Amino acid sequence: MEPNHDHAATLTEFWEGHYGASERVWSGRPNRVLVDVVSGLPAGRALDLGCGEGGDAIWLAQQGWQVTGLDVSTTAIGRARAAATTAGVAESITFAATDLAVWTGAGEHHDLVSACFFHSPVEVDRSAILRRAADTLAPGGHLLIVSHGAFPPWSKHDHDHDDYQFLSPQQEVAELALTHADWETLIAEDRSREATGPNGETALLTDVVVLLRRR
Ligand SMILES: C[S@@+](CC[C@H](N)C(=O)[O-])C[C@H]1O[C@@H](n2cnc3c(N)ncnc32)[C@H](O)[C@@H]1O
Repeated sequence: MEPNHDHAATLTEFWEGHYGASERVWSGRPNRVLVDVVSGLPAGRALDLGCGEGGDAIWLAQQGWQVTGLDVSTTAIGRARAAATTAGVAESITFAATDLAVWTGAGEHHDLVSACFFHSPVEVDRSAILRRAADTLAPGGHLLIVSHGAFPPWSKHDHDHDDYQFLSPQQEVAELALTHADWETLIAEDRSREATGPNGETALLTDVVVLLRRR
C-alpha cells in the first residue's frame, strides 16, 4: 500500500493533537458492547483497531486473550502500554503505533477483530481497513464493529449542518462487502446506552453494533 505522506501527516497531527490536549482522553474502562459480546467467546488472539489508550485491549488481556492493539497516535500507544503495565497484563498485549491505512495484516491470524468507535474526522478508507482486518480472522473468528449512530449532544459538530453520514447496522454490513457464503451476521442492531458528557451531563446514546462470524 502506498502511503500518502500529506494525508498521513494530517492524520497523525489530528490524533496527536487530540491526545496531547489532555493527560487522558478516555475513561480507561472497556466499551460496554465489547464486554457484553466478548464475554461469551473463548479467549484467543485479538486485534483492536484504533485501540486509543488501551481500555479494551487491557480488558481483553484480563479475560485471557493475547492482544494486538494498533493506533496511529504514539501518545495514545504510550499511555496504553503504561496502563497495561499497571494492570499487570503487559506481557499479553503488543501495542504498536501504526497507520492502519498502510497496514496490510499480511501473515497475521486472529480469532477476534474489534473496531470500537474506529471513527476519524480525517478521512480514512475505513471499509478497506475493516476488510483487511477481517481477512486475518481464522474460521470461526468474530469481527465486532461498534460505531456511533448519531452525534452525542455534547459533540462540537454542527449537528444541523454537518453532512456526516452515520451508517445503519445494515449499511455497516453492506459496506464491508464480505461474501455472504463465508460470513454469518450474528448481530446487526442499534443499542442504547446512557453516557456522561465532558461537563457531567448524561444522555442516551445510540451505538450501531455489528458482529460477524467467519464460517
Ligand atoms: C474515536 S477513537 C476510539 C478509541 C477506542 N477504540 C475507544 O473506543 O475508546 C478512534 C481511534 O482511532 C485511531 N485512528 C484513527 N485513524 C487511524 C488510522 N488510520 N490508523 C490507526 N489508528 C487510527 C485514533 O488515533 C483514535 O485513537
